[in-house]
Amino acid sequence: MGRVALLLFLFAVTVELSLGISHEIHPLRPRLGSGAANLQVLNLSCLSWRFGVETNNIIGWYGVPQTCKSYVGHYMLGTQYREDSRLVVYEAIAYAESLKLVGDGKDVWVFDIDETTLSNLPYYVDNGLGTGKYNATLFNSWVLQAKAPALPESLKLYKKLLSLGIKVVFLTGRGGSQRNATVTNLKKEGFLTWEKLILRGSSETGTALVYKSNKRKMLEQNGYRIVGNIGDQWSDILGTNTGHRTFKLPDPMYYVA
Ligand SMILES: *[C@@H]1O[C@H](CO)[C@@H](O)[C@H](O)[C@H]1NC(C)=O
Ligand SMILES: *[C@@H]1O[C@H](CO)[C@@H](O)[C@H](O)[C@H]1NC(C)=O
Ligand SMILES: *[C@@H]1O[C@H](CO)[C@@H](O)[C@H](O)[C@H]1NC(C)=O
Ligand SMILES: [Mg+2]
Repeated sequence: MGRVALLLFLFAVTVELSLGISHEIHPLRPRLGSGAANLQVLNLSCLSWRFGVETNNIIGWYGVPQTCKSYVGHYMLGTQYREDSRLVVYEAIAYAESLKLVGDGKDVWVFDIDETTLSNLPYYVDNGLGTGKYNATLFNSWVLQAKAPALPESLKLYKKLLSLGIKVVFLTGRGGSQRNATVTNLKKEGFLTWEKLILRGSSETGTALVYKSNKRKMLEQNGYRIVGNIGDQWSDILGTNTGHRTFKLPDPMYYVA
C-alpha cells in the first residue's frame, strides 16, 4: 500500500513535467473536450470519450484526443483507475468462487500481462501518456528492465484463483526475446507460479485478436478449460475460444487491435 502511494506520488511529479498538470492527485473530474473533432462537434466531455473507448464503441483509435490528455493523466494517476479495477476484480472473484470446478488441473484463467498484470504507467508517464506514438525500441528497453509494478487488484485476483485451484495462463503480445525479463518481473512482483507463459513468436504476425484466439484454441485443444479471461484490451477477450467469462480492465491510454 505504502509502495503504491509512493509510486503514485512519483508518477504524479513526473506527470507534471510531461502533461503540464499539477502534482496533486485529484479525484476524477470530467473536462470538456474542445480540440478533438468529434468531441468538439458533439460538445462532449472526456468522460464520454472514455466510456466510448472502454465499451469498444470507439475502435481503432490512435492516441488520446489532445483535450483529454490531462483528463486521462488524472484518471490513471488518481484514485478512479484503481477503483474501476477493484470493481472488475470484485466481480471476477465472485464469479470464480461460484464455479463448480472439475478439479483435474485443467481449469485455467487467462491473464494478459501489460496493463492487466503489470503496469507500464511509469514508462508512459516518462514517455508521453496517450500520445499514440509507440516507440518499440524504447518500450523494449523498459520491458527488459523488469521493473513494471504489479497491478494490485489483479494480484489479488491471481492469488484468489490459485487458492481456488484455478491455474493461471499468461498470454501476452510480448515477444520471446522478452521472456526472461518478463519472468523476472512477474516473480519480483508476486506472480510466482503459472501453468504457461505464452509469448508471441517472431513469425506470429497479425493482430493481437487473431494471435490470442489461436493460442486459446490451442489451450482448449490441449484439454484446458478456460474458465475466465481478463485483459485491458478488447482484443484480449474477443475472437474465438474467449473463455467462459471475460473481464475488461480499464485502459484509456492506448488501443491494440
Ligand atoms: C456544451 O456543453 C456545456 C456543458 O454541458 C454547456 O454548458 C454548453 O452550453 C454546451 N454548448 C453548446 C454549444 O451546446
Ligand atoms: C524511439 O526513441 C529513440 C530514443 O529516444 C529514438 O532515437 C528513436 O528515433 C525513436 N524511434 C521512433 C520510431 O520514433
Ligand atoms: C534475466 O533478466 C534479468 C532482469 O532483466 C537480468 O538481471 C538477468 O541477467 C537476465 N538473465 C539472463 C540469463 O538473460
Ligand atoms: Mg494489455
